Amino acid sequence: MYENMEELQEAIKNCNKCKLCQNRKNVVFGVGNTNSKIMFIGEGPGADEDAQGIPFVGKAGQLMNKAFDAVGIEREEIYIANIVKCRPPNNRDPEEDEVNGCINYLRNQVMIVKPKIIVLLGRIALQNILGKEYKISSCRGKWIEKKGIYYMPTWHPAALLRDETKKIDFLNDLKEVVTFGDKEI
Ligand code: URA
Repeated sequence: MYENMEELQEAIKNCNKCKLCQNRKNVVFGVGNTNSKIMFIGEGPGADEDAQGIPFVGKAGQLMNKAFDAVGIEREEIYIANIVKCRPPNNRDPEEDEVNGCINYLRNQVMIVKPKIIVLLGRIALQNILGKEYKISSCRGKWIEKKGIYYMPTWHPAALLRDETKKIDFLNDLKEVVTFGDKEI
């Protein structure tokens, strides 16, 4: 485990623990305020993120940024990372060996940031952080507290691109995060 983010990032820039290293352009490490009380966890990089090395810069990320603007979240004030740090081909779900190879990097990032709130973006983030028994459709929008961290599962922003009706849930969940963050912490 590394105590600081730069050291961790340096340590994993040539990671070859799983097959995703073979076609990546960049390790998409994470971005934002490493002291934030709020952390967002996505699934894994898409093509735009792989090309730029930054999480959530493609269509889904741009939609998330709009939602941030709408509820008053500054992207620079939070920390954003993913379950896997290299792009799964054709944006398929990350496989078990890939998640297993990568998840300790994310744990290390959580240890460094020490967030009070973690927003879990979609099923892959939810199930790999809290357990396979959690279902995004029944958990979304509800706080789950574990070991002093408050988790808010919500839709993955890519789901909003496929189904516009989910946008209102996503905005409500983010508003809840902002309100709770201001009030409780
Ligand atoms: N989807 C994710 O889960 N993460 C990203 O960084 C981009 C898209």
